[in-house]
Amino acid sequence: MRGRICGTGSYLPEKYYDNNDIAKIVETSDAWIRERTGIVRRHVASGYETTVSMAVEAGRRALENGHVLPEKIDMILVSTITPNAVIPGVAFQVQAALGADRAVCFDLSAACSGFVFAYQTAQAYIAAGLYQTILLIGSETLSAINNWEDRSSCILFGDGAGAAVVQAEEGELYPSVAGSDGTMGHVLACESRVQNDWQQREADRKTYIDMDGTAVFKFAVRKMPEMAKSLMTQMHCTEADIDWFITHQANERIIEAIAKRLKSDIAKFPMNIAECGNTSSASIPILLDEMNRSGQLKGGQKIIMAGFGAGLSWGAVYMEWHA
Ligand code: COA
Repeated sequence: MRGRICGTGSYLPEKYYDNNDIAKIVETSDAWIRERTGIVRRHVASGYETTVSMAVEAGRRALENGHVLPEKIDMILVSTITPNAVIPGVAFQVQAALGADRAVCFDLSAACSGFVFAYQTAQAYIAAGLYQTILLIGSETLSAINNWEDRSSCILFGDGAGAAVVQAEEGELYPSVAGSDGTMGHVLACESRVQNDWQQREADRKTYIDMDGTAVFKFAVRKMPEMAKSLMTQMHCTEADIDWFITHQANERIIEAIAKRLKSDIAKFPMNIAECGNTSSASIPILLDEMNRSGQLKGGQKIIMAGFGAGLSWGAVYMEWHA
């Protein structure tokens, strides 16, 4: 058995900061941010929007899209690095809000690789015959851990949530790859937990995201094509056979460099980074939902979904679209 995505959903906060808004907070410019990252604006949660509330809405929309009732869900798996509370986890609060009484729930913390890791976890549970229907959600309130005094990192991140319903189907598991390197953890770190009211935080830099942007950039540009090539080798196919490379949205230049290294048409690399920035574990499912709802994803299309991020961590999966 293996899992297939049968429904997608997403939620983006109404409020956003465009680059000119950011330029009022730190010394930067719209031109610099666009040129170096491709980002134009990013959504920012207001007081009533939290990691939980966005996860609930994205999950609800995915269930509607997949015509799956909450009582059919066997498992809810939420990927997040910005949970509302230490306990209970976000997944439990989503369960309560959706009325998914039968579901087993837990959160997974692997930053920007989190959604891919959650997808791989779902595949493993389904292949083992333990569960049939799993709701996967990536939800993040990165504005709560952004260092709003650091122009090299605060320009990048946004808030939002994306979700996918994975259902068991007959067939062998498709290939996937993943890895971690804890010795490189320091290049992208945030040592304290989320302070929901960031304006009230003490000026403790450990509360904020601390990043060596160049190191992360180089790692991503090396690792992402490596993973895609490994999956294509395992599938005995080439870049020409892949319809979409759906990658974590961190920087437009990173995605362009990956396409170049794979000698692939950039049109196969959908992007929403201009509108959303980097939403960590929410970025892939938000993009997937946008593509699904706009009719870009067609039955039988071959997709490589790949993420990378803090840890350091990386993961990629091959899938064929059936929804
Ligand atoms: N506005 C204006 N200037 C800025 C700036 C900003 N927002 N941020 C940095 N600069 C300046 C630097 O201070 C530096 O100035 P200097 O040459 O006088 O020292 C100059 O721009 C170049 O800095 P550099 O860090 O080399 O820029 P870059 O082109 O590498 O872009 C990042 C910086 C952070 C955008 C880029 O490295 C990146 O996207 N890295 C990956 C980060 C990432 O994806 N993290 C999440 C992974 S999940």
